Amino acid sequence: MAEAEWDDLDRYFAERLLARDPEMEAVLAANAAAGLPPIDVSPLQGKFLHLLARAIRARRVLEIGTLGGYSTIWLARAVGPEGEVVTIEHQADHARIAHANIVRAGLADRVDIRVGPALDLLPRIEAERRGPFDLVFIDADKANQDLYLAWGVRLSRPGTLIIGDNVVRDGEVRDAASQNPAVQGIRRFIDLIAAEPRLSGTAIQTVGSKGWDGFAMAVVD
Ligand code: SAH
Ligand code: DHB
Ligand code: MG
Repeated sequence: MAEAEWDDLDRYFAERLLARDPEMEAVLAANAAAGLPPIDVSPLQGKFLHLLARAIRARRVLEIGTLGGYSTIWLARAVGPEGEVVTIEHQADHARIAHANIVRAGLADRVDIRVGPALDLLPRIEAERRGPFDLVFIDADKANQDLYLAWGVRLSRPGTLIIGDNVVRDGEVRDAASQNPAVQGIRRFIDLIAAEPRLSGTAIQTVGSKGWDGFAMAVVD
């Protein structure tokens, strides 16, 4: 079965390319113990985000959708001691677990977890002049993915990298007539990348331990 093969190959890449990482393993164990859904980015994807952030020398990162802070920690490791990650999570129990994980990882001084619905908090983050961000990672409720992209652009500067997760969802995103609000949100998100003259974007399908999914990426001109 294809999925088992994707998983096997992810294991091989992870064995070769990811150092043993008790800190990250502890995050996933704590999330599982707390009953969080296992929908974090995969370890290889987490390192991919980390390397992108390092490659652009990101110092200020905005994340929408924290869950247990797994992707947050990969990004926080990339921004260096002078950097910061602002991450938004509307479920207080998720944010509490994320906070404990981030403290255990020794990264609390560079991560600011904001608790509430992203569409309420983004205007406040703008009012506080926390931007412009160097990198924006959008990974919350997919039905609002396009609205988060518009906020990402608002809080950007020329050169900001914006990444959206879960743009494939086992191929469901192909279906223009889908009744699934998540699919429609992703499709509006892709359409907004295409329509917004300040954005230049692409999308990459992925297979692996998270099945068939993908990232979209855009750079602000
Ligand atoms: N980025 C994480 C996974 C995030 S899962 C990782 O890879 O490790 C999506 C998260 O978005 C969930 O924790 C969910 O509670 C949160 N979320 C859903 N709707 C939201 C909203 N309107 N505002 C803020 N967070 C939201
Ligand atoms: C789901 C959400 C995610 O952000 C993800 O990476 C995988 C799955 C979900 O809601 O099912
Ligand atoms: Mg995701």
